[in-house]
Amino acid sequence: MPDTATLLLGQTLRFDGDPFAMPIEQAARHDRQGGVMIRAGHVVEIGDGAALRAANPQAIVHDYGDCLISAGFVDAHAHYPQTGIIASWGKQLIDWLNTYTFPEETRFADQDVADAVAKTYFDLCLANGTTSTCSFCTIHPESVNAYFFEAAARGMRVAGGKTCMDRNAPDGLRDTPQSAYDDSKALLGSWHAKGRLRYAITPRFSPTSTPEQLAAMGALWAQHPDCLMQTHLSEQLPEIDWMHSLFPDAVDYLDTYERFGLIGKGALFGHAIHLKDREKARILESGSALVHCPTSNTFIGSGLFDMAGLKAAGHTVGLATDVGGGSSFSMLRTMAAAYEIAQLRGTALHPAQLYWLATQGSAMAMDAGHQIGNLGVGMEADIVVLDLASTPVIAQRAARASGFWESLFPTIMMGDDRATRAVWVNGREMQ
Ligand code: GUN
Ligand code: ZN
Repeated sequence: MPDTATLLLGQTLRFDGDPFAMPIEQAARHDRQGGVMIRAGHVVEIGDGAALRAANPQAIVHDYGDCLISAGFVDAHAHYPQTGIIASWGKQLIDWLNTYTFPEETRFADQDVADAVAKTYFDLCLANGTTSTCSFCTIHPESVNAYFFEAAARGMRVAGGKTCMDRNAPDGLRDTPQSAYDDSKALLGSWHAKGRLRYAITPRFSPTSTPEQLAAMGALWAQHPDCLMQTHLSEQLPEIDWMHSLFPDAVDYLDTYERFGLIGKGALFGHAIHLKDREKARILESGSALVHCPTSNTFIGSGLFDMAGLKAAGHTVGLATDVGGGSSFSMLRTMAAAYEIAQLRGTALHPAQLYWLATQGSAMAMDAGHQIGNLGVGMEADIVVLDLASTPVIAQRAARASGFWESLFPTIMMGDDRATRAVWVNGREMQ
């Protein structure tokens, strides 16, 4: 029944621009008693709730009272196969990969394992109000099929791809330049641009790919430039030393991607903490995006992302959980960690900036900012409805707030899946 209209009533939050680039009052619009009209999977009107109700008497109404209605959260960097090893103790990046991650990813040769974990993963995302993801899979095509199948079953706009690795990984978890190319090409043929799905060409990171494999990935992206390309960049100092030992003539980490055509619009570089000036300049010039993964960066001990500096320079930056190096599925917990990391670097991010990063910022990093990540007429109706008093401590703090941002900030800092009152995906109520 595509013509059935649905009206969501509550507080609404949307963005007219980037709150890092203009005053908050111009960038963000909050309606105390707002309404969002949905029809055929899209937002068709936003405005005053009572006026929309009077003008649309036939609409099915969901009145969420004081809850906050916004775009659903967008997680721009995750590893769905690591769901089962989230919160594994005591290691930094390279040891963590070898001890926990690689053995777990080996299991995804089994289609049943991949199917079960993909189901759990998307259920957890939706429980946390995350309506879009950009995820690494494993080297196994089975893992990619499971990921896209489960996303499509839920109607979600997601991106992802086969993680390619042809060295420095255990038996059972290595492909070759040719098989990585062939498998990725076949998988993108099956899934890319089918409904709301987008393929991301995915070399894991240069330490686990030979130059030949990176060249094959660059060639594939050149043939399919409407795909995304995702990888890791400059996450930890020992990783950067390792990269230099493997690519002795590289001027810096980005060079190991750039020389093979793996930068540009549609490229997402996860972490990007320890960047050199040349790397920052080339990332900006090339239109590549950076993805900040704050719970992962503290959990694995990687370092402090320079949000203020990179945004001031004009970089495209998204926000992400990096599950399971990240320690939470919640983009609220992720915003809180981003706030804390920025504080350690001397900047207090405004709640509007944090919320924008978790929605429109991540959507733009995924080159989907015109489709998701904001409430606007014509945008796809991916929506989260948040209870801003979801626990006793949050409720008592929000009750003392003198304005909207002060009432939202306790949920950003202390909220989790208990704050999720409802989730809509493509105009359908999911939660
Ligand atoms: N670098 C290469 N692979 C990974 C991964 O799976 N997680 C994180 N956090 N960093 C990586
Ligand atoms: Zn990652």
